[in-house]
Amino acid sequence: MAAISGAESAAPTQLDLELSTELPRLGIEPEWKAQRRLWGHPFHPMCSYLASFPAALSHAFIARYSRPGDVVLDPFAGRGTVPLQASAEGRIGVGNDLNPFAHLLTASKVEPATAAESRTRLARLRLAWPAASARYLELAAAIQHDPAGGGPEPVPAEVAIAFHPTTFGQLLYVRDALDLDDRVDRFLAAAITGILHGKSASYLSELMPNTFSMAPRYVRDFAARTQFASPERDVFAGLAAKLDRLFRAPLPGSAGISLLGDARDAGRRAASTLRSRGLPDRIRLVVTSPPYLRVVKYGYYNWLRAWFLGFDPRAIDATLDDAHHRAPYLAFMREVLHGLRPALTDDAILVLVIGDVATDRGRTIRNGIGLAEQVWAEAAAPEGYKLAGVALDDVHPARKMTKLWGAEAGRATQLDRILVLGATDLSRRRALSGASVPVDWTWPPRLRAL
Ligand SMILES: C[S@@+](CC[C@H](N)C(=O)[O-])C[C@H]1O[C@@H](n2cnc3c(N)ncnc32)[C@H](O)[C@@H]1O
Repeated sequence: MAAISGAESAAPTQLDLELSTELPRLGIEPEWKAQRRLWGHPFHPMCSYLASFPAALSHAFIARYSRPGDVVLDPFAGRGTVPLQASAEGRIGVGNDLNPFAHLLTASKVEPATAAESRTRLARLRLAWPAASARYLELAAAIQHDPAGGGPEPVPAEVAIAFHPTTFGQLLYVRDALDLDDRVDRFLAAAITGILHGKSASYLSELMPNTFSMAPRYVRDFAARTQFASPERDVFAGLAAKLDRLFRAPLPGSAGISLLGDARDAGRRAASTLRSRGLPDRIRLVVTSPPYLRVVKYGYYNWLRAWFLGFDPRAIDATLDDAHHRAPYLAFMREVLHGLRPALTDDAILVLVIGDVATDRGRTIRNGIGLAEQVWAEAAAPEGYKLAGVALDDVHPARKMTKLWGAEAGRATQLDRILVLGATDLSRRRALSGASVPVDWTWPPRLRAL
């Protein structure tokens, strides 16, 4: 690509990247950048999630390219940003992800418990605690003494050291009591994952920041070196405060669907689930950010949350993100787009947020740059999609979750390109004419907007 040729030793600059796009630009103003950080429904920040995008970005496309009652799908839904925002705007938000943690977060947002149900369930847990406490506090002490053999199942040593003994006893009790197949219990479990660890009094452990779990060995060394002892935090009080924050606004206007599975057949599964619920079964809008070309270990960097939910972090990482090189990634994306096609309406629009990777942990890498162009040429065009254009999203490094890999990591993904595709010529024209339609950024939305 012209912008980077002859610059073998230097990392490409932002300007190089911007110049390097050969696709037509779509004139969508990136107004989502001007919104406050927590713009949108209070369920969005229920729990942090690596590489999630802002709710405001999804609103820019949902508001332009869909109407109330339409089905809006994200086949790589992560923590459910798109389906939740769609449901909050009166659409039918459908999220799919292969990561069971992502599936749980999305389900808890699009098929949530009500405030009354959540608080009633919490009150029942709290009332039953005194009778159960002796057993669970004893169990907590035994596990903290011997994580491998102190309880009915081995507990990772770094989990056992993360909490004050009383907090750990309460967590073991709540973990046993909650049934993740139950809508209300699942909501409470998702809310707890959001307060498990972080650096303020709202969190149950101060061992790690809130964004992600640090490497287990680092955590064990850190705890030994500093003689770490987490302050006592009451799980019931912490959860009650979290529920207050989550229920600051009414529930999303319509319910959505959370699916667990591979994006390659998300269209088929979405259509059959929609049909089984008596809902329209064609998707009018897809908004998604596929996995990055680089490795994001969703299990490894969420080991404490995974333990609480009873998921195996290694199993999560073994199933996700299998295409880290460009050629298999493009083949994967082609299969995803192929699978979606039969489930789309004739005027469906697809919005793909694709991270251009310029450096990976300090090393300049070449094959990430221009990825959106390649996704268009090698995955979307051969499947018959029509290109409306590309919008650029210059991501501020300080706000990227990928900064977890240290000083260099903030630069892992420098520029997101947003590919806007039509399923047909009709939808391409719809995408072009809708690009300049003004979007209302009032939140919560005025009633007439729904
Ligand atoms: C960049 S993240 C999406 C984040 C999302 N936009 C949000 O705001 O939370 C990509 C997601 O793709 C998921 N994923 C990876 N491989 C997948 C596959 N084969 N099928 C479905 N989901 C997959 C990961 O679990 C991750 O949640």
